[in-house]
Amino acid sequence: MTDIGNVTVVGLGYIGLPTAAILAESGVRVQGMDVSERTIDAVGRGEVPFVEPDLAGFVARAVAAGLLTASTEVLPADVYVIAVPTPFNDDRTPDLSYIEAASKAVAPTLTSDALVVLESTSPPGPPKHCPDGSPRRGPISSPTTGGRSSMWRTAPSACSRVGS
Ligand SMILES: NC(=O)c1ccc[n+]([C@@H]2O[C@H](COP(=O)([O-])OP(=O)(O)OC[C@H]3O[C@@H](n4cnc5c(N)ncnc54)[C@H](O)[C@@H]3O)[C@@H](O)[C@H]2O)c1
Repeated sequence: MTDIGNVTVVGLGYIGLPTAAILAESGVRVQGMDVSERTIDAVGRGEVPFVEPDLAGFVARAVAAGLLTASTEVLPADVYVIAVPTPFNDDRTPDLSYIEAASKAVAPTLTSDALVVLESTSPPGPPKHCPDGSPRRGPISSPTTGGRSSMWRTAPSACSRVGS
């Protein structure tokens, strides 16, 4: 993939909404997705549903320009950014259920050359499962930046749903 036509940002909170607005400010078409109707309604009006100084102008401009839309549905994209919560469980292990739910929502829309960026805080290492939750069957390439990035490319053969 050389050109990024559009980006879907999953989770429009303190991380996802500024990411979406700044990408849109750069001219990228961004489709924001969130499970919260309140968030989707606010972003759709060009408003910020939480307190974040200086963000309102970016969101209002992006929505007015038609470069940022908001929906409770995941729309197909060239690039997906997942920015959902990862709270702690009572035993201090990370609760990855939000990431799993977001991945399952993204999976049916993926194409073989889509890039999925996991922005949520998560344990290091490549994913053990495909986005739909099935076990990964094949290789994953190296992370793109020195082992700290959450960007991993899944070979099409590794996940039956991807690119099939
Ligand atoms: N806020 C920070 O400064 C910060 C810094 C570094 C890393 N992070 C990490 O970024 C991630 C997001 O943090 P945040 O502060 O933006 O959280 P947040 O609570 O502000 O926003 C999360 C958003 O995700 C939405 N959401 C929940 N489940 C969803 C689902 N299945 N599909 C779509 N949307 C869903 C919520 O409705 C909410 O709008 C976390 O993993 C956090 O640890 C946050």
